[in-house]
Amino acid sequence: MKKKLTAVLAVMMMVTLAFTGCGGAGAKTEAPAKELPTIGIVQIVEHPSLDTIRENIISQLAEEGFIDGETVTIDYKNAQNEMANLKTICQSFSSQNYDLIIAIATPSAQAALGETTEIPIIFSAVTDPMAAELVDSLEVPGGNVTGTSDAVSAQMIMDLALEITPDIKTIGALYNSSEVNSVSVVNDLKDYAAANGLTVIESAITNTSEVQQAAQYLAGKADAVFSPIDNTVASAMPIIVETLNNAKIPFYVGADSMVSDGGLATYGINYVILGKETGKMAAAVLNGADTATMAVQTMTDMDIYVNNQTAKTIGIEIPQSVLDKATVLGE
Ligand code: TRP
Repeated sequence: MKKKLTAVLAVMMMVTLAFTGCGGAGAKTEAPAKELPTIGIVQIVEHPSLDTIRENIISQLAEEGFIDGETVTIDYKNAQNEMANLKTICQSFSSQNYDLIIAIATPSAQAALGETTEIPIIFSAVTDPMAAELVDSLEVPGGNVTGTSDAVSAQMIMDLALEITPDIKTIGALYNSSEVNSVSVVNDLKDYAAANGLTVIESAITNTSEVQQAAQYLAGKADAVFSPIDNTVASAMPIIVETLNNAKIPFYVGADSMVSDGGLATYGINYVILGKETGKMAAAVLNGADTATMAVQTMTDMDIYVNNQTAKTIGIEIPQSVLDKATVLGE
């Protein structure tokens, strides 16, 4: 990366010298097209949260002087939630020797690291970078990978769940068991349940075609359903919300976008800020910073989000104590 920029600068200086050297005589020749540094952005799937993150990464990069088509080339690819696509995309970024890879969500980051330990990778919104085996430690990542984490607390979400619906005893966990980001939070949910006399009923899925059946199963067994920050669930919200709302089952989720999409409530982070932080880290690497010593950024700005429309649909009154501290969506 540094080599390429230095080469570009050297060419630019030679061109300038050539122009000044010929004292204005003769026809102006066009400067040779200079090679821009290239950033590959890989995103596992399209859902509102990941799209917000990507937009804010790109706008922050522009703010830092890395403007697509002017000072950098940005190559954005979406894997449509197919692991095979993720691999192909990351392979192509790696074989073209891009200057930087930005990987949005855990599966993308894992796929990128699987293809290169040379090209710097900045990940965005990885819930548990240690469990995903991306970094040696959050403080000192140690390799070509660092980025931002959207770690949330199952405990805080469940405390909120019990404030809104104090009578729940069994909680269904709906998640994709191949997403490390979800497994890690569901493990915390189980610890919370054990300590608070709740029973967890799991319904693990592996792709979106299974979500309706899984939601239906939980609707018949659990008093409430919990989904972590799961990409597969987030990309299939309408069908899950319809199933759970019909059964009048409260649906607690891991992210604000899942509340906008009909989930009942969450205690979550701000993904606009997270996207901008990711953009800043990416810019720092383009300017020469070393991923090995750049600490993973976690988000401290957390808020309660509730969906009043969903509350009405399932016949629940959100307590005033919650409304007082919540951002209300879905009105
Ligand atoms: N944290 C998720 C991961 O580690 C990605 C993610 C970001 C996400 N925002 C979300 C998932 C909202 C579901 C809903 O892969």
